[in-house]
Amino acid sequence: MNRVDSSTNLPAPTPGGKRAAPEAEHLLVWYDRHRRRLPWRAEPGVAADPYKVWLSEIMLQQTTVKAVGPYFAAFLAAFPTVEALAAAPVEEVLRRWAGLGYYARARNLHACARAVVQQHGGRFPETEAGLRTLPGIGPYTAAAVAAIAFDQPAAAVDGNVERVIARLVALETPLPAAKPEIRALAERLVPLARAGDFAQALMDLGATICMPRQPACALCPWSEACAARAAGTQETFPRKAAKAARPLRRGAAFWLVRGGAEVLLRRRPQKGLLGGMAEVPGTAWQAEFDAAGALAEVPLAADWRRLAGMVRHGFTHFELELLVFAADVPASTPPPEGGWWQPVEDIDGAGLPTVMMKIARLAVAARDSNQDARSW
Ligand code: ADE
Repeated sequence: MNRVDSSTNLPAPTPGGKRAAPEAEHLLVWYDRHRRRLPWRAEPGVAADPYKVWLSEIMLQQTTVKAVGPYFAAFLAAFPTVEALAAAPVEEVLRRWAGLGYYARARNLHACARAVVQQHGGRFPETEAGLRTLPGIGPYTAAAVAAIAFDQPAAAVDGNVERVIARLVALETPLPAAKPEIRALAERLVPLARAGDFAQALMDLGATICMPRQPACALCPWSEACAARAAGTQETFPRKAAKAARPLRRGAAFWLVRGGAEVLLRRRPQKGLLGGMAEVPGTAWQAEFDAAGALAEVPLAADWRRLAGMVRHGFTHFELELLVFAADVPASTPPPEGGWWQPVEDIDGAGLPTVMMKIARLAVAARDSNQDARSW
C-alpha cells in the first residue's frame, strides 16, 4: 500500500527511495496505446532530437498543435539544424515566424540557437538548470525539453497539465495562486523511468481526454484516481480568480499605395511589442486616441481617405482597435526614410504579423469593392 498524503489522494514522496505513483504507471500504459503522432515526436523507442523538441516547445507556447504543424515543417526545412538556425539572419527567422504571434519567441529562438552553437558546441544542455540559462527558456520549456529530449525526471506544467492535476486532486486553490501547489503535485507524480513519455502523456491527456469542456472521463486512465470525477465536478476545475478586463487601445494605420501596385511598409523598432517585425505605418496605440489628429502623422502628404470598418486585434495585455486610412501616390514616389515599397501581390512575402495582415485584408477588400479597381 502506498502511503497517502492527508490533503490529496496522491502517494507521498518516499525520501531516498523510488517514487512509483500508480497514476504514472496507468498513464504510461494508456500512452503506449493512444499517443498522438506529432511531427516533432520521436517514434516509440527512438531517441528524440533535442533541436526538434526545443523548436516545437517554443512554437507551442500559447499556440495550438494545429496552428504549429505547418510552421514547424517549414521552419525545419529552412533551418534543419541548430547550426543552420544560428547562421541565419534574425530578419529571416522573424519572416518565417510571421503569423505565429508572440514574436519575442522568434528573437529569443534565434539568440538561443546562437548560444547553443557558440557556448555549448551545438549541443543543448541536458538538465533543467542548464537549459534555464538559455534565452527564451523558462521553467516550463526547460522541464519539457529536459524530460522529452533527455528523459530527465522533470515536471513540465503548462495550462493543460494544470487543469489535469487540479481535477485529479480537486484543488480548491484558484489559479494563478495554485501554480506552485500544482507544480509540487506534478513533481511527485513524475516517474524516474520514462519521464519524457510521462510528460508527453500528460500533454496528450490534457489535449484529448481531460479537455476544458466535456472531458471524456470514461476513457481516462485516471478516472478512478480523479477526485473531481468522483464528486462529479470535473468541469469546475481548475478554479480561477476573476480576470481583469483587458484595456482598450486605439490607433490609426496608413495604407499608402504607389502606382496602384506597391504598399509602403517599414520595420518596427527591435525592442518592444512586435519588435523587429515589418509593419504598415501608423500612429502609436494608446488608450487616449484622437482620430482627427491622426492624419497629422501620415508618412507622406496625399489625398488620405478613411476606409470603412476597423481592424480589431487581441494582444495579451490589451485589445486594439485601428482605423485604416488609405491614399495613392504616383509610381515614381520614393519611400520615406526607413520605409520600402512592397508589391501588394506579394504581401505574404513581407512577413507581416497577424494584426498587420488584418489591415492589408481590409484595404484590399476596400479596393476590390471599389468601382475603380486600382484605387484605394
Ligand atoms: N504542447 C506543448 N508541448 C507539446 C508537445 N510536446 N506535444 C504536444 N502538445 C504540446
